[in-house]
Amino acid sequence: MEKIVSLAKRRGFVFQSSEIYGGLNGCWDYGPLGVEMLNNLKQAWWRSMTFRDNIEGIDAAILMHPKTWEASGHVANFTDPMVDCKQCKARYRVDVLLDELTIKKKKDVLRDLFPGEFEGQQKDETIEAEFAQRLNNDEIIAQAIQKSISCPNCGNKGTFTEARQFNLMFKTYVGPVEDAGAVVYLRPETAQGIFVNFLNVQSASRQKLPFGIAQIGKAFRNEINTKNFLFRTREFEQMEMQYFVKPGEEDKWFDYWRAERMNWFLELGMKQENLQWHKHEKLAHYAKAAFDIEFKFPFGWGEIEGIHSRTDFDLGNHEKFSGKAMRYYDEQTKEKYVPFVIETSVGASRSFMAFLCAAYDEEMVEGGEGAGEMRTVLHLHPKLAPMKAAILPLVNRDGMDEIAQKMTKDLQKHFRVFYDDSGAIGRRYRRQDEVGTPYCFTVDSQTLEDQTVTVRERDSMKQERISIEKVKGYLLERII
Ligand code: GAP
Repeated sequence: MEKIVSLAKRRGFVFQSSEIYGGLNGCWDYGPLGVEMLNNLKQAWWRSMTFRDNIEGIDAAILMHPKTWEASGHVANFTDPMVDCKQCKARYRVDVLLDELTIKKKKDVLRDLFPGEFEGQQKDETIEAEFAQRLNNDEIIAQAIQKSISCPNCGNKGTFTEARQFNLMFKTYVGPVEDAGAVVYLRPETAQGIFVNFLNVQSASRQKLPFGIAQIGKAFRNEINTKNFLFRTREFEQMEMQYFVKPGEEDKWFDYWRAERMNWFLELGMKQENLQWHKHEKLAHYAKAAFDIEFKFPFGWGEIEGIHSRTDFDLGNHEKFSGKAMRYYDEQTKEKYVPFVIETSVGASRSFMAFLCAAYDEEMVEGGEGAGEMRTVLHLHPKLAPMKAAILPLVNRDGMDEIAQKMTKDLQKHFRVFYDDSGAIGRRYRRQDEVGTPYCFTVDSQTLEDQTVTVRERDSMKQERISIEKVKGYLLERII
């Protein structure tokens, strides 16, 4: 992970937000290559969703009427239980406090809570399983926190406050008066912007069920613990799609969208062995069924996307809270009803990090140029790669640089390509490998004679010659 974070900074993918002031926890800035890759990722998702007949896109405002969040359940339920240490004032999410205990400490907790039952030798897996099973209600957890768990910061035991519910939504005020009537929230998910626009979109686009609405946008959560680079941040981007279906058909569409979304990651180059399903046993307040797609990060498995069967919870509640009907008129059956919803919800920033981790490699070059050296390479899918090609004059003279510059200008009408004429050719290839550029075109002395260039493919490092006039088509075929 450290190597990936360091490469991300050094090569301009991701910087710490407001770094010169010491940074702001849970916020990150995308640099020149990062923003290209993030845009490519969003575009790949947008195309996969909206380049079909029955999914429309929208871009809703981040600030919404505060009633939205009462209707969605976020005001009441979007909370994490949290404790403070009275001694050192450190604040912890209860689930994280429990999760991060070592096996030895988990065993101590079990011994304290259930005297006599955990005295002998037990396997680590047994302790893990018993811990998860026994600490399964608020009362037992409260006892554990008061009796057996010391503050990770100051080491004191018995100094935690009672658990309090902490709402993760960021609050702000509209207008000049900062009173309760002016409170609005930075949206914690993009989904609600879709729900409140359901009928606007349906009537404007004359869609019939089943149909979907897709949106990409920023979301904000005042996470108590931000960690693992872009994994859990306070400001992030989501790519969400709500698919509206006739009640009774939701299970069929749930299975359909699970398959579609897993395939999306595979088609963009992720390996099946690095992806797995996680079925939610404990469901969110709105869900009938939920599965996560998890990715194997260097620090362990972590959710990158949730696929949720959200019933008619959201539309039904917006109908109640707004007093406006959120019903679909079914021309076939002549009925009006509130549709059910299947949601696909993926973090753009979190999956950006997953794609970066999946692509990162350090490998020994076996033959050809640079044989026997180690190279760092990002095996990014060409669709995601920030730069699609590098144009390299072998030397800076004899007209090779002019040809390379002209090629660059021509290709820049269509793709992000990078011109580089500094340093030995091998070093230039390495610089491109490190940022995942899939193709390098080199102008050499033969180019002067027959107007061909070499094209070197990043992963195989194989080279072939093609004529300059075929370069654009070569890239189009592989990148779009
Ligand atoms: N509308 C449903 C919803 O928001 P979620 O499981 O809370 O569901 C969906 O979030 C996705 O958003 C997650 O799978 C993750 O990729 C991303 N996400 C959620 N919280 C995040 C955070 N604090 N930082 C980065 N990404 C986050």
